[in-house]
Amino acid sequence: MPLVSTRQLLDEAAKGGYGVGAFNVNNMEQIQAIMEAAKETNSPVIIQASRGARAYAQDKYLYHLMLAAAELYPEIPLAMHLDHGNSYETCVSAIELGFTSVMMDGSLQPDGKTPATFEENVAVTKKVVDYAHPRGIAVEGEIGVLGGVEDGHGAGGTGLEHLTDPDQAVEFAERTGVDSLAVAIGTSHGAYKFTKKPDGSVLKMELVVAIHKRLPKTHLVMHGSSSVPQDLQDIVNKYGGKLKQTWGVPVEEIQLGIRNGVRKVNVDTDSRLAITGAIRKVFVEQPEKFDPRDYLKPARAAMQKVVALRMTQFGQAGHAGDYKAISIADMAKGYKDGTLSTKPEVAKK
Ligand code: G3H
Ligand code: 13P
Ligand code: ZN
Repeated sequence: MPLVSTRQLLDEAAKGGYGVGAFNVNNMEQIQAIMEAAKETNSPVIIQASRGARAYAQDKYLYHLMLAAAELYPEIPLAMHLDHGNSYETCVSAIELGFTSVMMDGSLQPDGKTPATFEENVAVTKKVVDYAHPRGIAVEGEIGVLGGVEDGHGAGGTGLEHLTDPDQAVEFAERTGVDSLAVAIGTSHGAYKFTKKPDGSVLKMELVVAIHKRLPKTHLVMHGSSSVPQDLQDIVNKYGGKLKQTWGVPVEEIQLGIRNGVRKVNVDTDSRLAITGAIRKVFVEQPEKFDPRDYLKPARAAMQKVVALRMTQFGQAGHAGDYKAISIADMAKGYKDGTLSTKPEVAKK
């Protein structure tokens, strides 16, 4: 299948009542791990790259690896998404390269740290939508700000400082015409999300429920949604790592979100932990090894395992064959003739 729009994947997920994992990548092994997991579980999938990933791998390498993935797995609906675009220019450069959807994270200013005003967020997100939709490219916006700082990106804090306000979410969706909406519900990027298993005082799933009630047809996105499983933490630490004890977002909470309009679930940290644990294990148990394949193969397999598990838990498993690709040119027509609506259905309070 050619690279398809995230919008198509999320529309289908809404019809089927499931969520789609969006997994971050920086290199070939991570793309291979995700594609093998998608094949193993027969899942549609979103692969996403941050600005940091684009700088690390270089755009052209990433793009051609994604084309290879689409060619090698024609049965898998696959979208290539820009994660946390920080400006109009970043989004345009991703679209020009061939990304099939972009996130304009206007919740932060272009420095990726300072919270933006609501009006700034609306203005830049709408500008990206106006550029993207005529080209058939879907746009994710963010309202509210996540916690944590990952590789320089994020406002810091616990994630409770700038939670999404449901009324603002409605206004934001109406004024921007985004295809999907990331919400801030107390999660953070990275490994250190919660200091104990989260309850409703720190992980505000009731906000997802409230936003979904007001915007019943809008695809919601959960960022910072790694579960940071204990077994992966233990492997890293057993082989010389120094992770402090931490808790992520429990899978059952994500599943509650999926029952309430969450269609895209962002996961990066769990893959990082799986890879790091597997590499550390080889280094400790087989210190004589020096061929990168000796540690990258188990690293890739470990990432595949956690990604396949999440695909099953999010419900996308089994759905790869449900539909045929809509070309990006046809997506553009759909936005133009209104078959792809960008006007949210709003329920009264
Ligand atoms: O948004 C956070 C993702 O985990 C990407 O992280 O900016 O370090 O590539 P990154
Ligand atoms: P995690 O750090 O929880 O994996 O979140 C990833 C993310 O939200 C990417 O946008
Ligand atoms: Zn994120």
